[in-house]
Amino acid sequence: MKYYLTTPLYYVNAAPHIGHTYTTMAAETIARYKRMKGFDAVMFTGTDEHGQKVERAAEATGKSPQEFADTISAEFRKQWEKLNIRVDRTIRTTDPRHHKVVQWLFQRCMENGFIHKGSYTGQYCVYDELYVNDAKAGDACPECGRITETVTEENYFFKLSAFTAKLLELYESQPDFIQPESRRNEVISFVRQGLHDLSISRTTLKWGIPLPVEGKHVFYVWFDALIGYMSAVDGEDLWPADLHLIGKEIVRFHAVFWPAFLMAGGAPLPKQVFAHGWLLFENDKMSKSRGNIVRAEPIREVMGADALRYFLLREIVFGQDGSFSYDALVGRYNSDLANGLGNLASRTLTMIHQYRGGVVPEGGDAEIGVVANSTIQAVQDAFDRFEFSKGLEAVWGLISAVDKFIVQRAPWKLAKQPGDEARQQLDSTLYTAAEALRIATALLSPVLPQSAPKIWAQLGVAESIESVRFGALEWGGLQAGQKIGEVVGVFPRIELKEAVAKMRDLEEKISAEQAVLVGKKPEAAPETPQSSKIPADDFFKIDLRVGLVLSAERVKGSDKLMHMKVDIGEPEPRTIVAGIAEAYTPEQLLNRKVVIVANLQPRKLRGIESNGMIVAASIEGGKPVLAGFHEDIPAGARLK
Ligand code: MSP
Repeated sequence: MKYYLTTPLYYVNAAPHIGHTYTTMAAETIARYKRMKGFDAVMFTGTDEHGQKVERAAEATGKSPQEFADTISAEFRKQWEKLNIRVDRTIRTTDPRHHKVVQWLFQRCMENGFIHKGSYTGQYCVYDELYVNDAKAGDACPECGRITETVTEENYFFKLSAFTAKLLELYESQPDFIQPESRRNEVISFVRQGLHDLSISRTTLKWGIPLPVEGKHVFYVWFDALIGYMSAVDGEDLWPADLHLIGKEIVRFHAVFWPAFLMAGGAPLPKQVFAHGWLLFENDKMSKSRGNIVRAEPIREVMGADALRYFLLREIVFGQDGSFSYDALVGRYNSDLANGLGNLASRTLTMIHQYRGGVVPEGGDAEIGVVANSTIQAVQDAFDRFEFSKGLEAVWGLISAVDKFIVQRAPWKLAKQPGDEARQQLDSTLYTAAEALRIATALLSPVLPQSAPKIWAQLGVAESIESVRFGALEWGGLQAGQKIGEVVGVFPRIELKEAVAKMRDLEEKISAEQAVLVGKKPEAAPETPQSSKIPADDFFKIDLRVGLVLSAERVKGSDKLMHMKVDIGEPEPRTIVAGIAEAYTPEQLLNRKVVIVANLQPRKLRGIESNGMIVAASIEGGKPVLAGFHEDIPAGARLK
């Protein structure tokens, strides 16, 4: 039976970090687990490559959106490979085979009467050419702090309002559709308030899939991206998905919009949406402006990918928020992997070599057998509900029971005692330890895909670890007489301070490399303009100058942007790009005296580097009006 599961399609406006890794590792662990349960599990991850965020990120690097998306999506693919994440299906939303499916679903929704034309009203920053979702009239632009404008444009709308009752019925009849329960309740109360129709096209954006009905409209990113789950398996017998695994901030899109789009198009619905919590860094939200984003790569280099996967799934209750810290990672590694599993493996296998010439003896302790069998059940009960932490705890319950058992039996003493009874006791002790190790290793294989096969090989089991199925996993399966392999430590102890310092160093290095890749310097969040008073010194830091406009032309492909050369009293005129092209013609600007902010960091707009800002007044709903002078004043004069 198939089991098709997905991660979100990650935005390519930023390089992959540990948050993306968290979802993807969890999803792939589920795929491996489901295979052990006998399913043909198919794991999907992909990239969401359209929309203004990507367009703007590309602009900052001077690349075309397509080139930029090529670079970052390749980073994601490389990352998964390095982390032993097997991806069975993928899609990039810029792939033409995806466009086809998006247009198909849109057509179906339209034929079924769920698409209409209407006008969309939202907040827009003229200067940044940016829609500010969720902003109200009068709110500032998060990029530049200027007041956003309320814009109205003709859009295609999806009739989401028609689905309120149908969605509530879905949540009622399939209580598992949204998990965990807290998210389900949130969604239900949101939908109960009634749903509004949703604008699913934009005319101001260029970087998107064109609507099949009217070329100048492109699809709103969410209508586009969600369909990636289907287009990745187009023509196969895999849809509907059995599970969409996502972070909690995008539940509404997956549990409300997505099923409504599918119902409208007459397509089958996914079986389940599971939203996990946020991964925080040392209890703080990771963010670019705080500069505290953690990447998986340094951790992989210093500790190995399995250590990270184990930590994330063991430390954090899946579904709840959890904290990542380097110290906790190394701590868990040493206590659970080095001292726990690693130690059980090396002492057991070494003793079999030492006392029994590397051959598994006969025997087995019934009590430990009961613990092992109930652990096999406990892991399934937990993993079936995605309670990874609980399942892993159960495996460590077995490991510590065996550790205790070995200490009680003291095989090193038995080995020195003469007689049959001591020999049999030693046989049985060694078999018990090795069989518990075999079972623990098999149970852990979805979480330790790199290390579990190594321990397995040292145990000398003939069947491959990938072919182990829960139906056949039970106490007593280890063959007496089996020859074990050479003992090699799988989890060497790691020195905490040294490892943490190494990871932090690498993180700094990689974060600098990636900043170049995405064309960003870590910047502080902009102050809101209406905030409290500032000292005069702060004002004097701003270099305001009189500028004379020497040339002006519209920026190709943009209604808003004007490209100007302005004399500000320096040997070379400044290049300035400003969002004033709807308010002024190039002729009106020529030879005009304006006010320029001369000491801003340069920024790229539509591939042109702007070296200053022109000062204009604007009111909600109005066009910008340039500041100027009544008396004559030379270019370059400072305003104070
Ligand atoms: N492109 C949309 C998703 C479209 S799916 C049809 C998007 N992309 S994203 O790049 O922002 O990725 C968001 C997802 O990344 C989250 O839902 C979660 O799976 C993962 N995470 C990113 N940062 C995370 C944390 N700090 N903590 C946990 N998960 C995080 O949204």
